[in-house]
Amino acid sequence: MLRTLNSFALDLMSIPSVEDLFWYVAQNVVGKLNFSDCVIYQANEEQTELTQVSAWGEKNPYGRNILNPLVIPFGRGITGQVAQGRKPIIVDDLLKDENYIADTQPARSEICVPLISGGRVVGVIDSEHPEARAFGEAELEILSTVAAMTSAKLEVLAESRRANEQYHDLVAAHARLTLETNNCKALEAKLFEVRKLEVIGRLTGRFAHEFNNLLTVISGNLELLELEGSGMDAKSTLQGAKAASERGAKLIRDMLAFAQRTRLTPKLVDLNAHVSAFREHCEHSFAQRVELSLSNDLWMVSVDPVAVENMLLNLALNGIEAMPEGGRLRIATENIWHTLSDRPSFPSELLPGRYVRVSVADRGTGIAVDRLAQIFDPFFTTKAVGEGTGLGLSMVMGMMRQSGGAVCVQSEPGVGSVFELYFPAVQGDGNDLLTMNR
Ligand SMILES: Nc1ncnc2c1ncn2[C@@H]1O[C@H](COP(=O)(O)OP(=O)(O)OP(=O)(O)O)[C@@H](O)[C@H]1O
Ligand SMILES: [Mg+2]
Repeated sequence: MLRTLNSFALDLMSIPSVEDLFWYVAQNVVGKLNFSDCVIYQANEEQTELTQVSAWGEKNPYGRNILNPLVIPFGRGITGQVAQGRKPIIVDDLLKDENYIADTQPARSEICVPLISGGRVVGVIDSEHPEARAFGEAELEILSTVAAMTSAKLEVLAESRRANEQYHDLVAAHARLTLETNNCKALEAKLFEVRKLEVIGRLTGRFAHEFNNLLTVISGNLELLELEGSGMDAKSTLQGAKAASERGAKLIRDMLAFAQRTRLTPKLVDLNAHVSAFREHCEHSFAQRVELSLSNDLWMVSVDPVAVENMLLNLALNGIEAMPEGGRLRIATENIWHTLSDRPSFPSELLPGRYVRVSVADRGTGIAVDRLAQIFDPFFTTKAVGEGTGLGLSMVMGMMRQSGGAVCVQSEPGVGSVFELYFPAVQGDGNDLLTMNR
């Protein structure tokens, strides 16, 4: 018997579903363990009634399908009492038992054990015999062992079903997320494409317009020369054409700077020296007072000095133009060690590292928040027609990016603006240039 129970336990391991399990138990309680019939009842979720789900013997002469499965409420009959009391029952003589519910074939004795899984009654295993007193201690032990093994297997099956459901939920959630991410990416790409075309359109339109104006001046002046020959005004006509072509060349230079295509010649530079020289230039050429705040022991930077001067000039001119009533410009230098946890006002594209910051501050009109995003766009200007190209800040941004740095602005209408240039700092002397951030 032990050997039989052992092989029974081994077989249970490979059973894949609850239906197969009940069918196998019913079959083998009769087949291998020599009971004359076996019926398995399953309890409902509410724990109120039992339904026959598997049988071997009279109840299913044709295979796994049960003929007219009985439904018995908890507490009724012998099976119902076993489900409610959670204890096995043996009845020696059914004729004398008032609880007996006769099925198709009346019997004389009955044994019934509960199936308990996860603290709940999930069913009962029931066996009947045509003779009285057919079941004793030995049968009770065998059937209780079978019930315990079946209950354990039921718990394993429930656990694997839960795991399977969780796995499917996870796969479905992942698929949903992938779909949403893909949709989002496709939408972003579309939006990016639309914006790109919009910007390119605006850029080409403005460029064509500016260039056309210059060509009109040049060709108009050349035509005048043709008509007038070497008259009195010839020289100034020629100068007009020359000035227009120089403006054209500057336009191209600024556009190239914005496109980060300027031919830069970086040198090891002490920005304090350059800022001091620039102050002289400002005060001398524009009669503009400039206040300096220079940090001691400023790190060296590797940058094209001509580009630095161009950028300072553009920022200073913007500052002066923002203070029509006059006012002081302030230029400051500072060593900055940028770590990821720093204040969010650093330019977003700036990688953590060491930088020298040059800030140009004015107490001018300031810039409205909705304008801040536009001022670096090429050809964006609030100046009157013919007074500015709107390439100053785009050129500054292009040059800073080409030099491995970045530019940003903080501004408040009515208070003023600060433009900050971040130059990557350099380690070593002039012969051994090494950007600290590499
Ligand atoms: N310091 C500042 N204060 C207030 N507004 C500014 C300042 N700097 C720039 N702006 C705004 O940004 C716009 C763009 O500046 P940007 O230097 O690119 O072109 P611009 O000065 O208009 O023309 P250009 O530099 O070609 O003469 C300006 O027209 C102005 O509206
Ligand atoms: Mg400008």
